[in-house]
Amino acid sequence: MLRASGCLLRTSVAPAAALAAALFSSLARCSLLEPRDLVASSLSPYFGTKTRYEDVNPLLLSGPEAPWRDPELLEGSCTPVQLVALIRHGTRYPTAKQIRKLRQLHGLLQARGSRDGGAGSTGSRDLGAALADWPLWYADWMDGQLVEKGRQDMRQLALRLASLFPALFSRENYGRLRLITSSKHRCMDSSAAFLQGLWQHYHPGLPPPDVADMEFGPPTVNDKLMRFFDHCEKFLTEVEKNATALYHVEAFKTGPEMQNILKKVAATLQVPVNDLNADLLQVAFFTCSFDLAIKGVKSPWCDVFDIDDAKVLEYLNDLKQYWKRGYGYTINSRSSCTLFQDIFRHLDKAVEQKQRSQPISSPVILQFGHAETLLPLLSLMGYFKDKEPLTAYNYKEQMHRKFRSGLIVPYASNLIFVLYHCENAKTPKEQFRVQMLLNEKVLPLAYSQETVSFYEDLRNHYKDILQSCQTSEECELARANSTSDEL
Ligand SMILES: *[C@@H]1O[C@H](CO)[C@@H](O)[C@H](O)[C@H]1NC(C)=O
Ligand SMILES: *[C@@H]1O[C@H](CO)[C@@H](O)[C@H](O)[C@H]1NC(C)=O
Repeated sequence: MLRASGCLLRTSVAPAAALAAALFSSLARCSLLEPRDLVASSLSPYFGTKTRYEDVNPLLLSGPEAPWRDPELLEGSCTPVQLVALIRHGTRYPTAKQIRKLRQLHGLLQARGSRDGGAGSTGSRDLGAALADWPLWYADWMDGQLVEKGRQDMRQLALRLASLFPALFSRENYGRLRLITSSKHRCMDSSAAFLQGLWQHYHPGLPPPDVADMEFGPPTVNDKLMRFFDHCEKFLTEVEKNATALYHVEAFKTGPEMQNILKKVAATLQVPVNDLNADLLQVAFFTCSFDLAIKGVKSPWCDVFDIDDAKVLEYLNDLKQYWKRGYGYTINSRSSCTLFQDIFRHLDKAVEQKQRSQPISSPVILQFGHAETLLPLLSLMGYFKDKEPLTAYNYKEQMHRKFRSGLIVPYASNLIFVLYHCENAKTPKEQFRVQMLLNEKVLPLAYSQETVSFYEDLRNHYKDILQSCQTSEECELARANSTSDEL
């Protein structure tokens, strides 16, 4: 149970108070044992959508503001002329709902403590007591807001992108940057932090002004684009508000894999197994991730689980994403058609302007949204599709699945379309090429595995979506068709 790693074992033995204070010593301690990831838990790879960006991109650990260039990126005779980026908000607080569940679990452990008379007679390895003493530092007001670490995620991403594409993020383009954001605070705050990162890029050492005072004013809120899922009737009825749509998620919660963990955790924490459930286990697991991502500490919540447990809990998270945002239902991805088409409208326009030797009116478009914005779009484009669906019953078979949300949409994840204009092209078609980047790494095309495509070919490949996916129709609920309404 507690043998997940040398680092875990050590922290689990240390008293909680020492743990809270000993960020740096634990860092040093762990780095001896786990040279690859520093203040990381061995559970970090399984946090799904609560994964820190640097856990997906470990090269950032050596210098989060240092430019890093994927060697697959085009250079030489091809110059980037436009960049369209979809960016998930940075690290955030737990939601009020998660905080309520955590409080419930914490209460359970504290009640247990008083039942035992608080004697802690089982000795130093009483994890339940350590958890009861561990501070519950999340309050309702935090409700999913961006944390300071999340602002830093955005500033650093801005600095890296600006040095990766210096011509696009040039000073003269500054006034032509276009920023669009979801109305959620964490996204608006992310866009503001991104702008502050850019300010640092242009004016190293100067404190950034308020975003409202920047040249082009605050980012534009557009929920129809960034939260398309809230505006799709069919999705809302058939999936979001449909109690049976997430059947596999619910079935997995009560299935054998989860039951095993419930029994084990109940024994470790010395609480009745009937007081626990899959949701409480999941919130305990997430608290390990929140303490790590937000506070930079490895909390005793991480010691509740070993790696095999973490894989099961990761699957539970992925199942939900799969059925609600991914391939589970066609409408999940179809609801993102508007956003997909919007991206291609920008690219089309840039191609047209370049062909006419006009300046590109929007060389950089930055759109701030959610994991729920990115996953449907990636599914629409055919990425991370497994041969078999993820179900409550094929956990083992899906061990090596492609659909792992932690690798796809960690905090601050980003999907970037780069349009290039290439000199010395033999045909007009060869003048324009596109590359896609996911989390700053070149994402090979879903249909060819090539790292670059002619723009025309890309457009052709997705022509059905571009031509015949109309959100207004896709999202319309099938009406009862008893009478023909042709007239
Ligand atoms: C809810 O989801 C189930 C499973 O996909 C489906 O059979 C049912 O038609 C859905 N209900 C509604 C109201 O769309
Ligand atoms: C509704 O009725 C029309 C006309 O009879 C028919 O063409 C169409 O396929 C029907 N649609 C559905 C969803 O059954």
